[in-house]
Amino acid sequence: MNDIIQNIKTRRSIRKYDKRQITDEALGSIIEAAQYAPSGSNSQSWLFTVIQKQEILSELNQLIRRAFAGVTFDEHEYPAKIRSKQAAEKEHYCFYYHAPTLIVVTNKQDYPNAMADSGLALENIFLTAHSLGLGSCWVNQLAWLCAVPEVRAALTKLGIPEDHFVCGAAAIGYPDGPQPPAPLRKPGTVNLVR
Ligand SMILES: Cc1cc2nc3c(=O)[nH]c(=O)nc-3n(C[C@H](O)[C@H](O)[C@H](O)COP(=O)(O)O)c2cc1C
Repeated sequence: MNDIIQNIKTRRSIRKYDKRQITDEALGSIIEAAQYAPSGSNSQSWLFTVIQKQEILSELNQLIRRAFAGVTFDEHEYPAKIRSKQAAEKEHYCFYYHAPTLIVVTNKQDYPNAMADSGLALENIFLTAHSLGLGSCWVNQLAWLCAVPEVRAALTKLGIPEDHFVCGAAAIGYPDGPQPPAPLRKPGTVNLVR
């Protein structure tokens, strides 16, 4: 198995971080890897907003808690969204798992490949973080709630253009504790025609 395949197979979503901030060198490598993701027609219309100021992260977390409290989901809603809303009722809830760095990936609302391009950039972020001994996790709460006016206003204040929406976000930091085992891969997801 070569190093790239090994890196892909051993990456895990990490949900517990210690307080140490990642180095600027590591951040630079992670962002550069994100920028090197493929994009439709080489659009590169994404924006990577890196938040490392803990007060801002805490404020965003409180906003997310309030935004969840203000939305209602019916029983057909995506179950992870319903679980997140319930979890957000708890005082200690932190959507970014207290990671010291959050990278919010946004892209243009009217660009049809926005999610695809941003997803590829996010995977580059996760794999590069892992290759540098860092943990990471996709956190979707800002994506789910970015149209809530208070959340949108906070994103604008952070410099995210009004014509962008949140595609996803990456929590990044040093893992606190052992890496969880890989969830089993489901069978029956390959259709080989030859
Ligand atoms: C589009 C997407 C959204 C996700 N949203 C969240 C999230 O909001 N919170 C979270 O803890 N994990 C989130 N995850 C991580 C998945 O739960 C995780 O990738 C999956 O359980 C497989 O585990 P692994 O990443 O360790 O292989 C998300 C993953 C993807 C691809």
